[in-house]
Amino acid sequence: MNRTLILLALLASPVFAAAPDGADLYNKYCQSCHGADRLGGMGPALLPESLVRLKRPAAVKAITEGLPATQMPGYAEVMNKDEIAALAAWIYTPPTTPPKWEMADMKASQIIHKEAQNLPAKPVFKADPTNITLVVEHGDHSMTVLDGDVMEPIHRFQTRYALHGGPKFTQDGRFVFWATRDGWITKFDLWNLKVVAEIRAGLNTRNVAVSSDGKQVLVANYLPHNLVRLSTDDLSPQQIIPVLGHNGKTSRVSSVYDARPRQSFVAALKDIPEVWEIPYAGPNAFQPRKVVLKDYLDDFYFDQTYRYLLGASRSSPKGQVVDLDTGTKTAELDLPGMPHVGSGITFDYQGRRVMASPNLQDGEVTVIGLDDFKTIKHIKTLGPGFFLRSHENTPYAWADVFSGPEKDAMHVIDKRTLEIVSTLRPVPGKTSTHVEYDRYGKYALVSIWEHDGALIVYDAQSLKEIKRLPMKRPVGKYNVWNKTRLSEGTSH
Ligand code: HEC
Repeated sequence: MNRTLILLALLASPVFAAAPDGADLYNKYCQSCHGADRLGGMGPALLPESLVRLKRPAAVKAITEGLPATQMPGYAEVMNKDEIAALAAWIYTPPTTPPKWEMADMKASQIIHKEAQNLPAKPVFKADPTNITLVVEHGDHSMTVLDGDVMEPIHRFQTRYALHGGPKFTQDGRFVFWATRDGWITKFDLWNLKVVAEIRAGLNTRNVAVSSDGKQVLVANYLPHNLVRLSTDDLSPQQIIPVLGHNGKTSRVSSVYDARPRQSFVAALKDIPEVWEIPYAGPNAFQPRKVVLKDYLDDFYFDQTYRYLLGASRSSPKGQVVDLDTGTKTAELDLPGMPHVGSGITFDYQGRRVMASPNLQDGEVTVIGLDDFKTIKHIKTLGPGFFLRSHENTPYAWADVFSGPEKDAMHVIDKRTLEIVSTLRPVPGKTSTHVEYDRYGKYALVSIWEHDGALIVYDAQSLKEIKRLPMKRPVGKYNVWNKTRLSEGTSH
């Protein structure tokens, strides 16, 4: 650019024109639904952390035209293009002071549903309660309760906006807990099909874990930078654990899991090279043990003993194996690209325990030996994948192709040969993803990830389609038995 052009550009820039003010427009038109300080209200929070999945042009479109079949109105008649652009820019701008969410805010948000207290410990339905599958539908923010024996819905209800991370069950399968993107935690009584309690435990939340003794819920937050412990009784807040690293930096929490054999929670941190273990029994209960690492570990997989964490590594192409007992890195993991280890599975192959992981960047499923952490095979697929799933009772593992032109493909891999034996295209042109099984490994359920999508039920043995259930963008499925019995074919 020459000088004249720079000058012209400056004159045309909002610095010189009376630029529309995003903050003012927000307070005038949006605050009533999206809340003071953009923290959310009847509508979702509009902070940069909340909008990571929404591209800026899509936000402009939503503000201009509204969102069909929701309460979100369109503003094409009210504001001009510049005003809408200023507003869109504003919602992607971090607040000048980081928003706070403290004990008092949590307590004030808690809702205890009276009609759902002290109900009988007996299912109100005939279906086998251990073979229920929950289907999370993002399209219209609902949840379907499926009878896993016959694959028929027995209940469907509205959830809060945008569930994030998987629902977690108590060991008996009666209660289930989940988080929303905006930090709302729900306790649901699956036997009585009722919401028991709700609380807002954060402003931007990743997931929850439930302790194996059924007493604690731990919430992993991006905003504020903390973990929050709730009682499983009525979700009353017990403790805020601020996440401050050895280097003086605070961090977002990527995820938290229950490590049953260790009687502890383990949390992955996004911004500091540490892993935190928070015991829920013993003399050090609820005091985080901070394992300092040389590299970040924000996505990991436990080995079957829960002693080793297998994780991706940000700075080197190799993954890392962390020994939780000694708190040290014990091996490098031979996983290229960007493995999605959190979605890996384990099984026996030629007398050895192996782990298979999809890859978010390369079209391959990588199989490594869990004894020496060396690669046994790179199984080439038609594109990057997100989920890999199997079940003890089936010789097959299903791997999706999550992005690229082949996103409608679903590979079936034979665990005995590590070969792809079939590639299905459930609905040509539509994203098919996330397989989950029923309790017995008899059916494989595939999601068609579209607003007017479906759940396709396959016979897991013959790979023949059995039926299609229409669903609104079914993002995830969770079988009570497989999730509470730590099935080797799924994540927990
Ligand atoms: C009458 C209530 C209401 C008002 C007023 C309102 N919104 Fe919304 N907005 C909603 C609801 C409800 C949703 C969620 C819709 C859904 O279920 O997908 C939403 C969604 C959005 C989304 C998409 C969020 C996401 O995560 O995908 C954006 C962006 C948005 N609103 C911006 C605005 C802006 C900017 C204004 C002011 C000009 C505004 N809204 C005014 C209720 C409202």
